[in-house]
Order: sequence, then structure tokens, then C-alpha cells
Amino acid sequence: MTSSQAACLRAALQVGYHLLDRGSSALVAVEQTIRVLERSGLFNAGNGAHRQLDGVRRMDASIMEGECLRAGAVASIEGIVHPITAARLVMEETAHVLLVGPLATKFAKHHRIALQKRQTLPNRLSYSSMLKQIRRKGDRHGTVGAVALDQSGTVAAGASTGGIDLMLPGRVGDTPIIGCGVYADNEAGAVSMTGWGESIMRVAVAKTICDRLGQGKTAATAARLVLQKLVARVNGSAGTLVLARRGQFAISHVTSHMAAGWWDGKGEPTVGDRFR
Ligand code: GLY
Repeated sequence: MTSSQAACLRAALQVGYHLLDRGSSALVAVEQTIRVLERSGLFNAGNGAHRQLDGVRRMDASIMEGECLRAGAVASIEGIVHPITAARLVMEETAHVLLVGPLATKFAKHHRIALQKRQTLPNRLSYSSMLKQIRRKGDRHGTVGAVALDQSGTVAAGASTGGIDLMLPGRVGDTPIIGCGVYADNEAGAVSMTGWGESIMRVAVAKTICDRLGQGKTAATAARLVLQKLVARVNGSAGTLVLARRGQFAISHVTSHMAAGWWDGKGEPTVGDRFR
């Protein structure tokens, strides 16, 4: 993690904590925390999103709250700074959960979400050369996410991403799939995922961790058991933010690093890139 990323994480944690301290909902805290990370261009989301192999940024995001199990998500959205806000608008302004592609972009523009600066497209690759490239394994992830518990006892989770290295145009990962990239349920807790989406989807990791919380496991144990399963069953790779319904939390990963942090309002927020 660079010093700029560490400073940005601290700033994001402060924004989220202050909102909760002033009585805002967990949903608002999660959205606003993620907006700081999307705006920064320092992580793989929003202004910093990776490009697909045709040079276009197609981003995914989702958000969920645990009181009524409401959720919203966007996939393959283009040209906007804040996919997480588009996801919240899908949840709050429509009767749907997921919008995709150009029509998700149209929805976000209709709601006047800030636009990214126009990017020049790199030289085009042929489709067969793209198919060759995806045989190589990329290792850049950097999805951003947040979980929060508010004063009313409601939990929320969100995530926003530009995907992975070496993606075919149109590829969508775990992040906008409710139960895979995020899940929140006041009877269990809230989970937000980062990592290799193809593996996370196959184990439905976020909901599976919440189910373990609901069975009374601690946040650390729930995360460990499900990440162990991810590795054992699908050779997966991921990191997770887990918040149990009474506020106990864990940051856990089976990747070599995961930039993350927390804050209890005292001193400076704690950030790091190795947790277990
Ligand atoms: N976890 C982000 C992705 O795979 O797209």
C-alpha cells in the first residue's frame, strides 16, 4: 500500500465514522466512505478502475442494508465516478436490484452522477488476441468496500470495482452479485468482498459468511471457515470485511496483501495491508 492510499483510507474511515457518530444510517456511511475511495483514483474503482481488454472501463458496484434486506447494484457501467451511488439509486429509486450495461449508464446519467474525464482508447486488440491474453493470470485486484453498523442497530455493506486484470469486454465479477460480493442482514451481520470474482461467485462467499455469523460464529471464525473453503474447493483468492451484528468485526484475506482499516473515533484510524 502506498502512503497516498493509506492517507486516503484514513480519510475515508473518518468520513464514515463521523457520519455514524452524527446519527446517519449505515447505508449512507458505507456509500460516502466508498465515494472517497472511488474519487481518489488510487484504487481499482471509479476514477482508478481497470480497463477491459478493449480499453474501456466497465465498472460494477452494489450496496445492501440489513433491516429490510434492500439491495441495489450496477454492472458494466461506464464513464461515471461513483458506481456506488448508482447502486444506491437503483435500490432507492426503482423496484429493481440490478441494472447492467449502457442502460445502467443511462440511469446514472439521468440521476446526474458525476462523469469521469474522457479517456483516449489504447490501440485496439483483435478478439482472438484478447482470448489469448486472458489465459495469463493477472494479479491486480483492489476492489473497494465498506461495512458499517449504525446507532439503530442496522448493518450495511457496499463494494465498487473496475474488475480484475485481463478481462474480456463484458466480463462481470462478484461485486454486483448480491450474496457474492456483498451481503447484509441485521440478524447476522454485513460482509464486503475483494479478490478474484470468479472464485468468490462460485462459493457465494458474502452470504455464506453471513450464514455462519447467523449460526453464532464470531466474525473471525466465519471469515476463516469460508475463506478456507474458497481455497480448498475452487483454489480461490479473496479478502473480506466482516461485521457481526453487535459490532465485532474481522478483516481477513487469503491474498498476500489487503489494504484495509478501521476507526473507533479515537486517535488516528488504523490502516494496514496485512491482516489474517
Ligand atoms: N472482486 C472484483 C472482481 O472480481 O471483479
